Amino acid sequence: MPIDFHDPHNQNTYTTREADIRWMYTLRPYLPENSFTALDLGCGGGIYSKALTLLGASKVIGMDYSASNLVGAEMNCKEYPEIEFILGDALRTGLRDQSVDVILERALIHHIKDLDNCFAEAKKILSLNGLLVVQDRTPEDCLIPGDRHHIRGFFFEKYPRLIQQEISRRYTSEQVKETLAHNNFELLKELEFWETREVYSNAEALYQDIRGRTGRSILHELSDEEIEQLIVYIDDQFKNNPMHNIVERDRWTIWIARSKLSQEFSTKD
Ligand SMILES: C[S@@+](CC[C@H](N)C(=O)[O-])C[C@H]1O[C@@H](n2cnc3c(N)ncnc32)[C@H](O)[C@@H]1O
Repeated sequence: MPIDFHDPHNQNTYTTREADIRWMYTLRPYLPENSFTALDLGCGGGIYSKALTLLGASKVIGMDYSASNLVGAEMNCKEYPEIEFILGDALRTGLRDQSVDVILERALIHHIKDLDNCFAEAKKILSLNGLLVVQDRTPEDCLIPGDRHHIRGFFFEKYPRLIQQEISRRYTSEQVKETLAHNNFELLKELEFWETREVYSNAEALYQDIRGRTGRSILHELSDEEIEQLIVYIDDQFKNNPMHNIVERDRWTIWIARSKLSQEFSTKD
């Protein structure tokens, strides 16, 4: 069964981590130097809403279409008065035109069927020269083999049936870039980025995380018994070389795009 974002049992699934400091260093050069307003669209538990404040946003709106995720987000960010959470849909945010300077769509677009309308909405509410930061995994990112850092790769090795499921919901880099261009965004940078997801003190801590399916929607496709078999499979990979301090990393693609004027004048005339 796919993950149900509206199920209260999943309300903390996207709250338990902190954003990787290298993620912040990577994005900082592209963000406005002066204070800015940011929208964290599909904010989940607000991990990156917090990170946006640390990156200089004076106000952050965290928006998600799951009321139960927003309960977790409110709790996670209660020390951050500059963050406001609003229930809303990425395709119809209800925000005023040109009212935000930066939009982050992290791990959102693989849940969106109509990418064109999603970017059209972002375009509408972004200020002129505003920035849209999209982060997701392409099919290539997903299919990187498993190793002691890329734990996710083992999920597909153990259960090849998940591959088609995973790939069919992922956009290729070309699809993202074409859809950005179609909505009058100028691509400033496309990055491949290994983001630290979590550091576990031992293998059991990792296995607990896998059992909880925490922040891993693909694992909702497996039964509890299959999850246990997956853990045995991962454990087997390292039986001659036990794991301590496991640094789990995922490979992402990040597209950073600027909102252009609809009819930006060509300097060639
Ligand atoms: C994989 S989680 C990512 C959460 C967060 N951005 C992060 O990176 O930790 C995807 C989030 O997008 C939300 N979501 C999915 N479709 C949405 C839509 N159409 N509008 C708003 N939120 C949506 C889900 O409820 C979920 O919280």
